[in-house]
Amino acid sequence: SHGSDEQIVRRCADMLADAVRKEDPETVAAVILEPCLSSGGVIIPPLGWLERVRDICDELDVLMIADEVITGFGRTGKWFAVEHEAVVPDLMSVAKGITSGYIPLSASIARGRLAEVFTEDSHEENVHPNTYCGHPVACAAALANIAILEREGLIENSARMGERLQQAIERRVGGLPIVGEVRSRGLLLAVDLVDPQRKDQPLARELVASLNMIAWERGVIPFARGSVLRLAPPLCIDAGQVDELAGLACESIEALQDQVSAARRDRVAVAAARS
Ligand SMILES: Cc1ncc(COP(=O)(O)O)c(C=O)c1O
Repeated sequence: SHGSDEQIVRRCADMLADAVRKEDPETVAAVILEPCLSSGGVIIPPLGWLERVRDICDELDVLMIADEVITGFGRTGKWFAVEHEAVVPDLMSVAKGITSGYIPLSASIARGRLAEVFTEDSHEENVHPNTYCGHPVACAAALANIAILEREGLIENSARMGERLQQAIERRVGGLPIVGEVRSRGLLLAVDLVDPQRKDQPLARELVASLNMIAWERGVIPFARGSVLRLAPPLCIDAGQVDELAGLACESIEALQDQVSAARRDRVAVAAARS
């Protein structure tokens, strides 16, 4: 065990503050972090962590940058994942969800005191130019997308459907030997897969990755890598679709469990025959 949430937050906050102090805060421009790690294995920090990071950044006078490329625009059940703690970062990077991916667009969102540096009448070379900056069609797509998110209450839906998905999966496969933690925030969900004999160890990567095809054959497109199966369905998913998704994802995990159990029985039988 890594300790209670409070202990984890305190320990990691101390490590962060020490690291910045060791480098000399004068030389550190910013702390950049994902509010929930996505590609890193859907690691969801305990609530309280972002507030501590904000405090440390204020105390040491370094900027706080939240990478909300995956989490922004409703994925975690709030418009932005930092809102789970009412934390305001100095900068946010956003992309995918800003247009729901229909047209490529990314953006940097800055607090006033930072945005003011890039004034419209500036004659300094202080703006990094970018070929596709401010593309009007992409921006129009983002505005249309945001209007739909608002009109159809899709952020709220993400929170409610995420909860439903978590519960359905937890209830059905939470007790299986190869299943560790089922964790989620909104519609960003991960099932941790573990070695059934040593549950503090991950399940073999090739077994985890095999879930991609097992699920695909049943009509689900998950992303299984490392030690986690990830699900991130569209924010417009409804209750019936959540139940169907949970059913098929669980069926896939059960199929893998059967395979792992059968392989173990075979190994035990071979070992018994040898002795
Ligand atoms: C959290 C996060 N930040 C940044 C990126 C990369 O963004 P870009 O492709 O614009 O470099 C990704 C890509 O998936 C991401 O998941």
